[in-house]
Amino acid sequence: MGKRTFSIWRGNGQDGNFETYETEVSEGMVVLDVLHQLQAEQAPDLAVRWNCKAGKCGSCSVEINGKPRLACMTRMNSFEPEERVTVQPLKAFPVIRDLVCDVSWNYEQNRRIAPFKPKPRGKDGKLRMYQEDVDRGQEFRKCIECFLCQDVCHVLRDRGRKDKFVGPRFMIRVAGLEMNPLDDEDRVPELRYEYGSGMCNITRCCTEVCPEHIGITDNGIIPMKERVVDRYFDPLAMLGRKLLGIRVRKEPRSTRGE
Ligand code: SF4
Ligand code: SF4
Ligand code: FES
Repeated sequence: MGKRTFSIWRGNGQDGNFETYETEVSEGMVVLDVLHQLQAEQAPDLAVRWNCKAGKCGSCSVEINGKPRLACMTRMNSFEPEERVTVQPLKAFPVIRDLVCDVSWNYEQNRRIAPFKPKPRGKDGKLRMYQEDVDRGQEFRKCIECFLCQDVCHVLRDRGRKDKFVGPRFMIRVAGLEMNPLDDEDRVPELRYEYGSGMCNITRCCTEVCPEHIGITDNGIIPMKERVVDRYFDPLAMLGRKLLGIRVRKEPRSTRGE
């Protein structure tokens, strides 16, 4: 494929610049191969995080020509022959060095979500669920925690509202739990008041960048928004619950000191 030109971010979040590198690219190479080749030939101190080189560990997330992507799954033949390829760290998270970000904020969001709480077993001592419920949750379990969706979400990226919204990755984690018929936890008040379901305006940018092709917005976030509407804003649902004597929690547990 010949010699190609790259602009790669060198530095940390406060200080740094794009440096230009040229290197020989051969058939079948992906962007992560190029970064490794540059480490071997010209920049031994270039920091890049990776593990599997197979699109499964979610470690090599970077922005390539301005788009959040996995470096190990971005083929060099997807660019025009004369195109300069720019590689920079994820914009939504603090840069540690070069292409490596501190994504620990995401793990903090994960810890805020109430875990699976099994329902009491049936009279025969078994827990049962339908195959369609198994299949529905399966989609969300494909997540590799690459955080590309978190990076592209304008609520976190441009508006910087990490204080108000857990982001698409954790909305689908909540969705996977809430849609599990064997789960006995209720996370709807937290969805509204703590996880920030109302901050998402369904632009679907997260769905577009997901390397696992998870229907983040349509299959995960929208059903969660509907549960919030059903609990707080739908007069028919509220009347139905009143007639049937069904009581639901409306305040998040944190306001009750739980
Ligand atoms: S659909 Fe919602 S969560 Fe996804 S990028 Fe847009 S605002 Fe963010
Ligand atoms: S939902 Fe998709 S884009 Fe988001 S972290 Fe999981 S695999 Fe990555
Ligand atoms: S190195 Fe594992 S997803 Fe790229």
